[in-house]
Amino acid sequence: MNIHNMLTLYPAMGYCVPMVINPPELGALEAYKLATSLIVPRPIAWVGSRSKSGVDNLAPFSFFMGVSTQPPSIAISVARGRGGALKDTAVNILATGHFTVSLVSFSHLDAMVSSSLPWPPDVSEFEAVEIPAVAADTVLAPRPAEALATMECRLVHQHDMGSTHLLVGEVSRYHFDPAVIRIDEKGHRVVDLGVLDPIARLGGADYCRIGEVFSAKAQK
Ligand SMILES: Cc1cc2nc3c(=O)[nH]c(=O)nc-3n(C[C@H](O)[C@H](O)[C@H](O)COP(=O)(O)O)c2cc1C
Repeated sequence: MNIHNMLTLYPAMGYCVPMVINPPELGALEAYKLATSLIVPRPIAWVGSRSKSGVDNLAPFSFFMGVSTQPPSIAISVARGRGGALKDTAVNILATGHFTVSLVSFSHLDAMVSSSLPWPPDVSEFEAVEIPAVAADTVLAPRPAEALATMECRLVHQHDMGSTHLLVGEVSRYHFDPAVIRIDEKGHRVVDLGVLDPIARLGGADYCRIGEVFSAKAQK
């Protein structure tokens, strides 16, 4: 049976006819709206970096994922800004190889959103939004003092994908507010989500917090 026969049989089988969208048909905004409302919820990397001339920068990025635990590594994707220019975060990380990634707690929502405004390169978001900064220990980059969890990162891979830069960082140090770490039933240090209270990005200007949590284990 070919795909066309399958599609015409679908309604009879009680299924909807699938809607097909081919990415080349989409304009840039439509492609952005579709992908950012589909790939959800996304954790938010609040990225601290420093320019070559010493200006501290802070901006959020939700195209963010963990890629490895040994060594601990994370990836962020920094799209090009208006006119195809690199955003300050990408300029700084590509120039210095250093950055910090903090998780965003609900209590930091307003500061995080304000730090996403397109502040000029010579303006530090830390000063513009009045977010206290502290210097990282192992990398030349700032971190928000009030963040409950931060990873200090060194750039280990970069991939220019045209419209975006994929940047992979290896974690050289974690910083936790002690209240965020609890010991689980097997004695491992894990993050207490109730304390961290992380927010995640959905489509548009929507966000969510952790809701119902349930466990599932594969049965042998
Ligand atoms: C919650 C949130 C998530 C964002 N995620 C991304 C992202 O994944 N990639 C990106 O290029 N921009 C993202 N942005 C937009 C950047 O934060 C914004 O362009 C910012 O001005 C970049 O700052 P910079 O020029 O100082 O690097 C996001 C904004 C918000 C509010």
